[in-house]
Amino acid sequence: LPSKSKVVWEKFSPQSKFQKKLYHYGTFPVGFQWGVSTSAYQIEGGWNADGKGSSTWDTFTHKPGMIQNNDNGDVACDSYNKIEEDLYMLRALKVKTYRFSLSWPRIFPNGYRASLNKKGVDYYNRLIDRLIRYNITPMVTLHHWDLPQALQDINGWDNITMIDIFNDYCDFCYETFGDRVKFWMTFNQPHTIAWVGYGLGAFPPNIKKPADAPYRVAHNLLKAHASAYHTYDDKYRKTQHGLVSISLNADWVEPLDVNIPREVDAADRALQFQLGWFAHPIFKNGDYPDAMKWQVGNKSELQGLSESRLPSFTEGEKAYIQGTADVFCINAYTTRRVHHVTSRLSPKSYEFDQDIAIKDVEDSQETAVKELRTAAWGLRRLLNWIKEEYGNPEIYITENGVSTNTATTDDDTYRIFFLKTYIDEALKAHNLDGVQLKGYTAWSLMDAFEWLNGYSVGFGLHHVDFKHPDRPRTPKRSAHYYYDIIRDNGFPL
Ligand code: NOJ
Repeated sequence: LPSKSKVVWEKFSPQSKFQKKLYHYGTFPVGFQWGVSTSAYQIEGGWNADGKGSSTWDTFTHKPGMIQNNDNGDVACDSYNKIEEDLYMLRALKVKTYRFSLSWPRIFPNGYRASLNKKGVDYYNRLIDRLIRYNITPMVTLHHWDLPQALQDINGWDNITMIDIFNDYCDFCYETFGDRVKFWMTFNQPHTIAWVGYGLGAFPPNIKKPADAPYRVAHNLLKAHASAYHTYDDKYRKTQHGLVSISLNADWVEPLDVNIPREVDAADRALQFQLGWFAHPIFKNGDYPDAMKWQVGNKSELQGLSESRLPSFTEGEKAYIQGTADVFCINAYTTRRVHHVTSRLSPKSYEFDQDIAIKDVEDSQETAVKELRTAAWGLRRLLNWIKEEYGNPEIYITENGVSTNTATTDDDTYRIFFLKTYIDEALKAHNLDGVQLKGYTAWSLMDAFEWLNGYSVGFGLHHVDFKHPDRPRTPKRSAHYYYDIIRDNGFPL
């Protein structure tokens, strides 16, 4: 199953002239969108303030033993009460954009419009107004994992009625905030929702059904996304003139050996199963990648099933999903190596349907989050792969960052090195390879609730003292460094 994007592995093979470690340096064009990123559950706190409903993450973190140190997002960075403090940091960095998410249960406590919580709407109106006042463009994620618990009670994303429920929530948000918000992302990392929530079951709703639940969930997420996109198109685009996209995550993968076609196929499959699962329908032909249809179909057959566990779209649905993103938004952190293996066991790991095994790449560096080792050169390759595979779309890096252990106070050397090397690779992709990269929002503005790791690790450019009732924020050295990059638009020679 050949794919044009495979040329990327050849282009960057050890024999090629594209060197791994040399710095490029240079600048992005004027108008490049520099920003920082956060999400509601990770920073807001105020988990039951002013009528907010519970989310799946409230439920989950309130169960003992789920999160490191039994941390939760009840208070987090207290951003619900600290708009001015957050704004102060954003203004000091001189970012052009701020990517944050709306907490659905803060707006609709039980998930439905009828439960509208005016105070929740007021909070986001205040935040958006303050951003606009200071010329910071809001980039808004409609859903970053904190699903209203009431909707999980009807089976969450495994229930097809969620498509309309989500669409109505988005419709309300466009109508309410769209006069000022011109950049929307429907979902953050749908792959994580489907796989980590319903396959691995490490995240809420904690369902461990790798064989079929993630595929059904992804199917609904894609339709929900498309529906929210069309609502914007039909009702708001003409008057609001904004963009709608979706933030997809991808880990770059290197094949075991670039000269063995079977190994290159395996690496391509890994990307198709992660990024392609959502990007192929949206940015290509409205349908899943051939590699997924083939693999899952085959495995299903081996299991004696008459139908593939991968659901299929009707022609009408394909046409409805195809083209439902105005730009390509990518969250990128790590690079891995993939081997081809043939697996006939019953599905219990992500690798099963893909016939792959995942390893570390030798020259990646450890981070506080074990799964997110860093290797800057992978970012350039990923951007090139997206360019080849999806026809050179305009790309925004909506997340990229590194975690460190919050218990150790160091001088932030690692994060500075990370920003320097990753952004330099993004520059190479833009300046040398013709990737249409339009923006970069660093993850994250400040240390925050890092899901299963709680507050033990931080991705922030600012340190937050979680032991102090006021949650004071302090710039790390990397905040100053990032300020310089933004001021200089890169690394001028
Ligand atoms: C991706 C997620 O979108 C974000 O919420 C998370 O904190 C970072 N990755 C780091 O793990």
